[in-house]
Amino acid sequence: MDAIECIQSRRSIRKFTTEAVPQKDLKELIETAQWSPSYKNTQPWEVAIVSGAKKAELSKVLVGLLEERATPTPDFTTPASWPTAEQERIDYLMKKRKELTGLDLTAPEMVVKAKKANFNFYYAPHAIYLFQDASLSEWSIFDMGLFAQSLMLAANAKGLATVPQAFATDYAKEVKECLGIPASKRLVLGLSVGYPDMESPVNAYRTERSSTDSICQFME
Ligand SMILES: Cc1cc2nc3c(=O)[nH]c(=O)nc-3n(C[C@H](O)[C@H](O)[C@H](O)COP(=O)(O)O)c2cc1C
Repeated sequence: MDAIECIQSRRSIRKFTTEAVPQKDLKELIETAQWSPSYKNTQPWEVAIVSGAKKAELSKVLVGLLEERATPTPDFTTPASWPTAEQERIDYLMKKRKELTGLDLTAPEMVVKAKKANFNFYYAPHAIYLFQDASLSEWSIFDMGLFAQSLMLAANAKGLATVPQAFATDYAKEVKECLGIPASKRLVLGLSVGYPDMESPVNAYRTERSSTDSICQFME
């Protein structure tokens, strides 16, 4: 698979097989992602790979917090509103996902269901958390996006699947406590990782993209 094919074929996967990924393969994903560029080569990323009993414990903590309606403690604020073009794309995604899975993510009880699935990392065998020192600037958050994409592409190239999950950072404080990550760190992103279950209808939908002409202009 070449780089173009790897980028174009990556997609978020939300149903995995139960097969565990060997630790050396997980480590290889991180080693590859470490080649991502970063501001002044600061490499401001840290990673926790959570599996087995620890992952079960973490999911239990997160689902418990959701069920008791605990106030979320994210390190990033959830956007209160979006510009028109972005909101239209969200609406389109929600409509498509409702058609395909019956999940109406505009209904509060469905959001709870979706969050539970996220907190169980879609039952993937592994969860990955990306974090960094909380004193770092926005440029370092940008670097984390590059790292996350490299990690997801490396996984795709190896026949593994991922989904990036902002929801998995809802209870950042409690995630850090459970994983022994210092409070001085910023929890940037959670991901599920495993082998894709491509038989599942959940994984059937391939998201679309806007036309290139609508977002790109050539200037001379
Ligand atoms: C920063 C970020 C946060 C996301 N958070 C979630 C999430 O919490 N739960 C989820 O199921 N998908 C989440 N996604 C996945 C997006 O819905 C998905 O990337 C988008 O719909 C495009 O689909 P694709 O990844 O299959 O190309 C997130 C993606 C990104 C980049």
